[in-house]
Amino acid sequence: MANFKPPRLALGYGLDAWVNFHEKEPITIDISPSENSHILVCGMSGSGKSYLEHQLLYRLIQAEKDRGGEYYFADYKGDDSFSYLRRCPRYYTYKDTLTALNIVHSRMIDRQSGEDTDRNPITLVWDEYMAQALNMTSEDKKAAAVMMNKVSEILLLGRSLSVRLIVSCQRADAIAFPAGSRLNYGVVCVVGAAVRSIYEMLLPDHIEQVKGRQFGRGEGVVLLQGSTLRYIKVPAVRDENRMRQTCLEALGRE
Ligand SMILES: Nc1ncnc2c1ncn2[C@@H]1O[C@H](COP(=O)(O)OP(=O)(O)OP(=O)(O)O)[C@@H](O)[C@H]1O
Ligand SMILES: [Mg+2]
Repeated sequence: MANFKPPRLALGYGLDAWVNFHEKEPITIDISPSENSHILVCGMSGSGKSYLEHQLLYRLIQAEKDRGGEYYFADYKGDDSFSYLRRCPRYYTYKDTLTALNIVHSRMIDRQSGEDTDRNPITLVWDEYMAQALNMTSEDKKAAAVMMNKVSEILLLGRSLSVRLIVSCQRADAIAFPAGSRLNYGVVCVVGAAVRSIYEMLLPDHIEQVKGRQFGRGEGVVLLQGSTLRYIKVPAVRDENRMRQTCLEALGRE
């Protein structure tokens, strides 16, 4: 196994090398099941969360193509940039997103109970999770609690069972992540304009490092495994058609 290389996912490029020297220094993470690759993307409206998420999904599908990766996309808002996925069986909008959660959660429970011994990677990407959690809480507290508990369980138990969450929201208030599960993201990314309250919530030990920095759309900070902070640049997509084709194929499976 001397040549075994763990699968890696590129999140983006180092921001300072990009801006100062036009250099591309990929920031990557290990996506083997032994590592925590739950990803949280936060930032104000228009900061580039969905754009980043789209790329992450695309690259993940490519990185895991030999490992039988399975992908589910929960798009609460039904964002225009994902409208091309509308006919895919594994793309869910608005309240249907709960179907995606239920499928992924029950797959995880089957693995945990030993009923399913497969460990192919399963990923649920959820755009605007927080908005959904807040809306549901105001409509039906009980249903909202069930949803949040399932999300929380995936965050707490998913890693060793090869079940992963990629979640985006403007602010990731602890209330939507019961049992302290917000701490279970291996990767926390904050894109766009610096908002102190978001940093205080997600990067409390690194405030000094981000103080005074300005970030535009598609730029920001990423905290890896709670310890390493990097400034990140999310590049523009070079081949949009290929990205779409790859996502269509993966989400188009029955
Ligand atoms: N890194 C980037 N490079 C080039 N264009 C980008 C980048 N990030 C975002 N954009 C563009 O900026 C616009 C806003 O991005 P996006 O929709 O991802 O923001 P958002 O944070 O998801 O906003 P919202 O909260 O409204 O959903 C889009 O038109 C997108 O194509
Ligand atoms: Mg968005």
